[in-house]
Amino acid sequence: MKEKAGKIVFYYFLSYLFSPSIFLFMAIEHMPLKEQKFRTSIDIPEKTRHEIISILNSDLAGSSDLYSQTKQAHWNVKGENFFQLHELFDDLADEVEDAIDKIAERVTALGGYAMGTVRMAAETSYIPEYDCHSSKGTDHVKMLAERYAVYAKRVREMIDTTAELGDISTSDLYTEISRMTDKALWFLEAHFQ
Ligand SMILES: [Fe+2]
Repeated sequence: MKEKAGKIVFYYFLSYLFSPSIFLFMAIEHMPLKEQKFRTSIDIPEKTRHEIISILNSDLAGSSDLYSQTKQAHWNVKGENFFQLHELFDDLADEVEDAIDKIAERVTALGGYAMGTVRMAAETSYIPEYDCHSSKGTDHVKMLAERYAVYAKRVREMIDTTAELGDISTSDLYTEISRMTDKALWFLEAHFQ
């Protein structure tokens, strides 16, 4: 690891001294994939693309976490409304899974590396940890509603943030996910309204 970091610094130093791009290329070659940015002809400035990739990767983690928590509820719910809730949670998880794929593919379309493993998600997710002390249907619905609300707020904020950064396509993706999330929240909260 140290040897690898040393090589990156060494090649960066050479590229700084002599400025040929071959040294810069060699420095990038030694970087872990997740830190690399790939070349693309998409006409969004590089700095903006990097900012958007980082935002999207954060939401890839949040979405993966929300997906696994929804499945957790789907598998473990018990009680009189078992089947109805078991089915509902599975439908909600399917929608989030669709969002995960779209977010990850937007990262790669923008020349980034999608940080999509479960461990990567666990390191950076902003969704609160799931409470596994109850199997009652109403508790699962409440816990999920709280977590979908956190996700819905974040996704809505990113509609404006990515539009302000000049990436209307990513903003449109967030708008699509926001519609899905609001509907999911309605389906959950209707149990208490
Ligand atoms: Fe299932």
